[in-house]
Amino acid sequence: MDFKGKDIISIKDFSKKEINYILDYANEMLPYANGEKFKDILKGKVLASLFFEPSTRTRLSFESSMSRLGGRVIGFSDPSGTSLKKGESLADTIRMADSYSDAIVMRHPHEGAARLAAEFASVPILNAGDGAGRHPTQCLLDLFTIRSEKKRIKNKKIVLLGDLKYGRTVHSLSYALARYGAELTFVSPASLKMPKEVIDECRALGVEPTQTSSLEKAIKDADVLYVTRIQKERFPDAEEYNRVVGAYKIDNELLAGAKEDLIVMHPLPRVTEIHPEVDKTPHALYFKQAFNGLPVRMALLSLVLGGKL
Ligand code: CP
Repeated sequence: MDFKGKDIISIKDFSKKEINYILDYANEMLPYANGEKFKDILKGKVLASLFFEPSTRTRLSFESSMSRLGGRVIGFSDPSGTSLKKGESLADTIRMADSYSDAIVMRHPHEGAARLAAEFASVPILNAGDGAGRHPTQCLLDLFTIRSEKKRIKNKKIVLLGDLKYGRTVHSLSYALARYGAELTFVSPASLKMPKEVIDECRALGVEPTQTSSLEKAIKDADVLYVTRIQKERFPDAEEYNRVVGAYKIDNELLAGAKEDLIVMHPLPRVTEIHPEVDKTPHALYFKQAFNGLPVRMALLSLVLGGKL
């Protein structure tokens, strides 16, 4: 399977066979991700890391991935220090990064920005999140985590909770999980329901998601609880946000009603939706999930840059 030079814009651009190949390869990357082994397969390669929006995990894990494989990183985490400040267009910024690097990872507040960037770049574009749109590398690391912990995804009962309207990770993930034949339950405040087009996509793949506002009922027989933050930055007005903030809270009392082997995932950052007391329980998978960003992104960089293990 040849991924060299390929853009990573949306999970929908990949077949299930290709996704499985990436996840298997990410598994091979594990000893390189945790520092047990080292191989400089990306020596001499340069990644441009362009973050127009804040990030901790995605940016640092991409940059660490490049370093762990012997490559170098240029870029910015705050666009106010670039010539965008002088009015330069996104297209011209991408043209410049294209001429200085071998691949570009980009996070941008506008949906569709990564697809647009790919039109102006000859090197691969890796979408690190575009507005409320796609976040394909998060989706891959979520699939990797579920598959690693639960051995398979098919028929697993997966509850997606929180801001299902603005949360970009849950859109890509619902689609991908439906392709794998998972059983999906969506739990959210009424104003933050999963968009109809995502539900329609699941239906087209033969999965009928259950929609409810009762978390207690939903988690009783769940295998995975995927929690999301209420995306304050994407609300058009503060009042709407204030009405829903704190709608759900995961704590040990709630988890007492769940299966012993339920795993709690969260793309992070969390704010108040998971009580820190949960961190010490065997349910808490969110920090391991964030670590899994490393082998998955190492695998992707290795594949698109053509430096295989
Ligand atoms: N999960 C995720 O995208 O985290 P960051 O916003 O910190 O990159």
